[in-house]
Amino acid sequence: AKKILLFCDPGIDDSIAIMYAMLDPDIELVGIVTSYGNVTKDQATANAAYIVQLADRFDIPIIPGASQPVREEGSVFYPGIHGEEGIGPIKPPGNMQYYTYPFDTIRLIIERFRNELIIVDTGRSTSLATAFNLFPNEMNMVQSFYIMGGAFFIPGNVTPLAEANFYGDPASTNVVFKFAHNLTIVPLNATQSAILTPEIVEAISANQNNIYASMIEPIFEHYYAFYKERNPELEGAPIHDVVPIILVKNPSIAEYTYLDPNVIETTDAKGMSYVDIRPSSKPGEIRIAIELDYEAFIEEFRKVMLPEGS
Ligand code: BDR
Ligand code: CA
Repeated sequence: AKKILLFCDPGIDDSIAIMYAMLDPDIELVGIVTSYGNVTKDQATANAAYIVQLADRFDIPIIPGASQPVREEGSVFYPGIHGEEGIGPIKPPGNMQYYTYPFDTIRLIIERFRNELIIVDTGRSTSLATAFNLFPNEMNMVQSFYIMGGAFFIPGNVTPLAEANFYGDPASTNVVFKFAHNLTIVPLNATQSAILTPEIVEAISANQNNIYASMIEPIFEHYYAFYKERNPELEGAPIHDVVPIILVKNPSIAEYTYLDPNVIETTDAKGMSYVDIRPSSKPGEIRIAIELDYEAFIEEFRKVMLPEGS
């Protein structure tokens, strides 16, 4: 199984990504680093803890990370898309108990798995940049990095120019670009077509072997309502954060280009991701998923989310 340390901000699509990882026997989630982003850090932490507890996975360390971007105070949250508490109408029980682990646990996890470890980041880049800052030697041992974020040559989602994760803390995103090796960026170009449809949601809800069956519909309803209001033609809603998780297993379901991107840090274009494609520029080292094979993606998603039972 692929050993994944997930940095995230659950968040509806982050939550579905965690559920997916819990259910996929080919993925071993070895830790979750939770940060501000779609909701506050504390809420993201509680949400992640809740989802792994539902799977009885008390063994997965939950590691709280950053609570705000490096250069700006505070952060903007997105209750419209993800709900006040981050998972639509689903809330962790008020009396839920859970442990959290110190940030240094990241170092120990890397020490333990070394070049078997894959880091996936589906949130703002602050915590990952901080890990590069604090543990440069250990971060060098990691096998590869997948980060969801950016929008290349296409409109963003949080502003006309920027995607939410790269907009949230562009300075940290640039730190990640600088220090991460074997880096795959999974931008909106690939994730906006990762559409979860009402039909698939219905099938998951009816599946007796999926421990999350009863919550998927209310979560999706909230999420889809937001997207549909924006674009009535959408036949479902994009589950961005599931894409990098599936790509770790199945890299061939996307098409890539190799270019070294940058993110604009200030001005009206804040968070805009771009690459230099002038003919004279050298080929880059960073792999960017520029297009997703939707059929292959959704087939994989269905396989895991509709378990057949034993
Ligand atoms: C990304 O932004 C967040 O709101 C989502 O969870 C996803 O990680 C999409 O732009
Ligand atoms: Ca996210």
